[in-house]
Amino acid sequence: MKTSFYDLPLLTAPGQVFTPRPATERLVDRALERIDGVPVRVADIGTGSGAVAIALAVNRPEVEVWATDTSAAAVELARRNAELHGVADRVHVLQGDLLEPLTEPVDLVVANLPYLAEQDRDPRYDDEPPEAVYAPGDGLDPYRRLLNACRDGKLETGGALLIQFHREALVANCWELEELRERLEASA
Ligand SMILES: C[S@@+](CC[C@H](N)C(=O)[O-])C[C@H]1O[C@@H](n2cnc3c(N)ncnc32)[C@H](O)[C@@H]1O
Repeated sequence: MKTSFYDLPLLTAPGQVFTPRPATERLVDRALERIDGVPVRVADIGTGSGAVAIALAVNRPEVEVWATDTSAAAVELARRNAELHGVADRVHVLQGDLLEPLTEPVDLVVANLPYLAEQDRDPRYDDEPPEAVYAPGDGLDPYRRLLNACRDGKLETGGALLIQFHREALVANCWELEELRERLEASA
């Protein structure tokens, strides 16, 4: 199966790997605005099909991306999509939790992680793997833990975090992580 994301054809694996949605193109727009000609190290956390990582690499040759996902099926699909678009040398797909597989800090962290509580079933996602959409408790723990990891040295001083939350792209410079945390908590 195939879909189109940011005008790029991507292989999909319905039921196994989250199929990228048009709303996530905003996340790519915001990320591209922050990349302007100098080499940039980017992390795409919860990469799924690799959509965000590949869109960034295709549109910005100066970018190197480390894309992580806990799902083996997602890692395999993202690698195939990176090869399809000729960016496998700059999109390194790694299996693991959040930023853990990265050995060096990055300049920009981009993420579309699960943020819905398990009791808030949304029929629009009935065909998606539940672990791609829902998280235990109030659903915010993946983003809480990502914020902690950014504060604990995986984000360069001067870097930024960009996350998708309810179809919006939220951005925080490294000195604004606390404000982003407060905004998320206020929505919980
Ligand atoms: C909503 S999907 C987004 C996929 C892709 N970024 C997109 O926008 O199409 C969330 C993805 O995060 C992955 N994921 C969930 N928890 C994770 C974690 N702790 N670390 C890394 N990836 C995780 C899921 O396997 C899933 O592929």
